[in-house]
Amino acid sequence: MQHKQHLSLPQPDAESAAHCVRVAQFLREKIADSGGRISFAEYMHHALYAPGLGYYSAGTSKFGEAGDFVTAPEVSPVFGQVLARQCVEVLDQVESASILEVGAGSGRLAVDILSTLAELDALPRSGYRILEISADLRERQEALLHRELPELMDQVSWLECLPDGHNGVIVANEVLDALPVERFIRRQNGVSQLCVAVEDDTFVLREREAPQHLVAAVSAIEAELGEQFPDGFSSEVCTAATQWISDLAQVLRDGVAFVFDYGVSRREYYATERSGGWLRCHFRHHVHENPLILPGIQDLTAWVDFSAVAEAAVNGGLEIAGFVNQAQFLIGGGLDQQLANFSELPIDAQLKLSAQIKLLTLPSEMGEHFKCLGLSRGALTQPSAFSLVDRTTSL
Ligand SMILES: C[S@@+](CC[C@H](N)C(=O)[O-])C[C@H]1O[C@@H](n2cnc3c(N)ncnc32)[C@H](O)[C@@H]1O
Repeated sequence: MQHKQHLSLPQPDAESAAHCVRVAQFLREKIADSGGRISFAEYMHHALYAPGLGYYSAGTSKFGEAGDFVTAPEVSPVFGQVLARQCVEVLDQVESASILEVGAGSGRLAVDILSTLAELDALPRSGYRILEISADLRERQEALLHRELPELMDQVSWLECLPDGHNGVIVANEVLDALPVERFIRRQNGVSQLCVAVEDDTFVLREREAPQHLVAAVSAIEAELGEQFPDGFSSEVCTAATQWISDLAQVLRDGVAFVFDYGVSRREYYATERSGGWLRCHFRHHVHENPLILPGIQDLTAWVDFSAVAEAAVNGGLEIAGFVNQAQFLIGGGLDQQLANFSELPIDAQLKLSAQIKLLTLPSEMGEHFKCLGLSRGALTQPSAFSLVDRTTSL
């Protein structure tokens, strides 16, 4: 099966193939330095973020048609326009408010949010801040913002790490799915950790006894679900995501964080029939399940356990402002206002916009799998994007 999927993937061009060889060499050295094995989480971290080499840290095109996958802001400006309307609702209620975007990708979402806020005469009093782990993407974000919104550049700044405190809005679209995951297998006599080793010059997955933190994480999930996983059940745990949410909870003083990603509740995530887990690889718009090939030139990503994310937020003192799918977020959040002049647009623009909105909202496209979790602190009214329905109890 994997072989067939591998064969059906497009061939990388010569430059990407050469880059892949360099990343593979780096990974082999890391594995050798660690005595022959590294955890899958460490492999994923290096494959995505090794400085100058990892998928997000090196200069390949990732987003949009020329890249490997498409995110909501790359599909349509409507996503950022509606999100900007949600930002206004929060910014209006908070002193010295700013927007903090984490993991800004190409910078497209920042452009859409800032230009909509400028149109609505509602730019945040304390600016738009971006925290981006990849030096390469940060350069691209700066270039895009310079090109498209030169007049608003004085509003934008880049941070090196999370600030001590933040008032206003935090936005993170598809950041959690890009954090490294641990992979485990439940065995009758314990929990195994999946590791990456090298055999015959090829990366292979091997099992070893799980370290204490992973055993504790798996046991905690089993306790929540009320039963032990069956022998051989395998999945992922993203301790990096829960840590990241705990850090964010320390930072958000007054305001709302809108966290978007594809994901499900814990019960769905760890359903027996989902053994094998939720890790996916994206290469030139092909989705497959072999993370050990194409290191550094394919995206590795795992669906999000939103129950774990919500729990980490609540443990950190945040409240759940709402939990909806992307379609509900957009429809509840002001899509109709954003489309008020739809009938005045030329017919080709209407057709293009309709196609984009279908992609963002249809359940068979991005409408259902993608969710928005709202996290808040302070005496704020609930953002209208969560007013249509609220699925928090499903978590
Ligand atoms: C899948 S991309 C999504 C990009 C963008 N938000 C979008 O929707 O198009 C993930 C982004 O998160 C960034 N990222 C991953 N981990 C991060 C972290 N710990 N802090 C800041 N940015 C991070 C990546 O470099 C990349 O920009």
